[in-house]
Amino acid sequence: MAASAEFRLLVLPGDGIGPEIVEHAMRVVDWFADSVGRALHIEQDLVGGASLDSHGVPITDKVVQKALEADAVLFGSVGGPAWDSLPRADRPEMGILRLRKELDLYANLRPAVSFRELVGASALRPELVDGIDLMIVRETTGGVYFGEPRGQGTDANGKRRAVDTQVYDESEIARVCHAAFEIARRREKRLCSVDKANVMETGQLWRAVVSEIAREYADVELTHMYADNCAMQLLRAPKQFDVIVADNLFGDILSDEAAALSGSLGLLPSATLHYAADQRPLRALYEPIHGSAPDIAGKGIANPIASILSFGLCLEYSLNAPEAAAQLTQAVRLALARGLRTPDIAGEAEEVVSGAALTDAILEGLDELAAEPAGALPA
Ligand code: NAD
Ligand code: IPM
Ligand code: MN
Repeated sequence: MAASAEFRLLVLPGDGIGPEIVEHAMRVVDWFADSVGRALHIEQDLVGGASLDSHGVPITDKVVQKALEADAVLFGSVGGPAWDSLPRADRPEMGILRLRKELDLYANLRPAVSFRELVGASALRPELVDGIDLMIVRETTGGVYFGEPRGQGTDANGKRRAVDTQVYDESEIARVCHAAFEIARRREKRLCSVDKANVMETGQLWRAVVSEIAREYADVELTHMYADNCAMQLLRAPKQFDVIVADNLFGDILSDEAAALSGSLGLLPSATLHYAADQRPLRALYEPIHGSAPDIAGKGIANPIASILSFGLCLEYSLNAPEAAAQLTQAVRLALARGLRTPDIAGEAEEVVSGAALTDAILEGLDELAAEPAGALPA
C-alpha cells in the first residue's frame, strides 16, 4: 500500500482497569500495525487520577494539546474511590469531559450488538437479545454536563442547594442529529430520537430541530420516544431499534442499559467524533463505555473486549479500514466461540480466564483469519 503520513495515536490508559484493558488493546494495535497502510506513531500519557497524582490536575494542557494534534486518542477509563471526595472540578472524570469539550467531540457512537456466543450472558431471555444490532448516538459536548449556571452553595436560609443546568442551542442539536441521520442512512434507515419533550424545554427544542432536519433525510424513518419509555422498550423489545439519538445524559444512561442487553459493560466500545462539513470524522477518541471498575481493578480479570473493539472502531472510522475492523470482530467471535470467558460473561458452570488469556485467543483468531480469510466462524 502507498505510504502516507504517519498516523498519530495518543494512548491515555487512565485509572483502575484502564491500564490493563489498554495494554491488551495495544497488543491488537501492534498486530495491525503493519497492515493499516500508515506508519503508526504511538505516544502514551496520563489522564484522570493518574494525572492528578503526578501533576495535580485531571489532564494537563500539554496532554490536551497532544490530543488536538493526534489523529486519534485511545482512552481507557478514569476515576476511582481515591479521588471520590474531590470537588467536581478537580475529579478525574474532568479529564474525559475536558477532552470531549476541547476537541469538540460531539457525537458519541455507542454500538450495541449481541454476540450469538453470549446470548446466555444477557439478563434477558435469549430470544429477546439474539440479533440485537443497535447504535446509540449520544451528544457529548453539551446539555447538563456543561450547562451554566452550576454549583453548590446555601440559600438565604442556610439550606444547602445545588444547581445543574440543562441547556442546548439549536446548532448543538442539529449537528449530532445530522450525524445520527447519516449513520441511519447507512444502516436500516430508522432513527429514534429520545427526549422528554413532555416536561423539558430542551426536549421540545430537541424534538422540533430533529423534525426539521428529517426533511433532508426523506429516506430515513424518524420516530420520537420519551426517554423513560425508551428505557423500558430497550428491555421489552430491544430489536425494534436501529439508531437512537439522545442528549448527553439520556445517552449515557441508555447506553449502559444497552450494554447489559449485550451481556456485559465489558463488551461495548465507543467512538466520539467531530465531523468535518463533508461528514468525515476530523477528530476522534475511542474508549469503552465502561468506567474504571474499582471492584475488579488489579485482578487481571477485566474484560478487554470493549477496549479492543474501540480500536476496531478506530480502524473503521479513522484508518478507513472497515475490512480490518470486521476481521477483528470475527476474531473476537472466534475467541468467544471457543469458550473463552472473563468472569463478567461466564455462565455458572463455565470456566473463566484472565483478560490476558482472552486477548491471546483473539490474537490467535487474527492469525488464523489472516492465514485463511474465509475463516471457520460459526454462523
Ligand atoms: P464501571 O463501568 O466502572 O463499573 C460498573 C460495573 O461493571 C462494575 O461492577 C464493574 O466491575 C463492571 N465492569 C465495568 N467494566 C468492566 C470490564 N471491562 N470487565 C468486567 N466488568 C466490568 O462504573 P462505576 O462503578 O459506576 O464507576 C467506577 C468509576 O469509573 C467512577 O469513578 C466513574 O466516574 C468512572 N467512570 C469512568 C468512565 C470513563 O472513564 N469513560 C465511564 C464510566 C464511569
Ligand atoms: C461515560 C462516563 C462519563 C460520562 C463520566 C466518567 C464522566 O459515564 O463515558 O459514559 O458520564 O460521560
Ligand atoms: Mn457512562
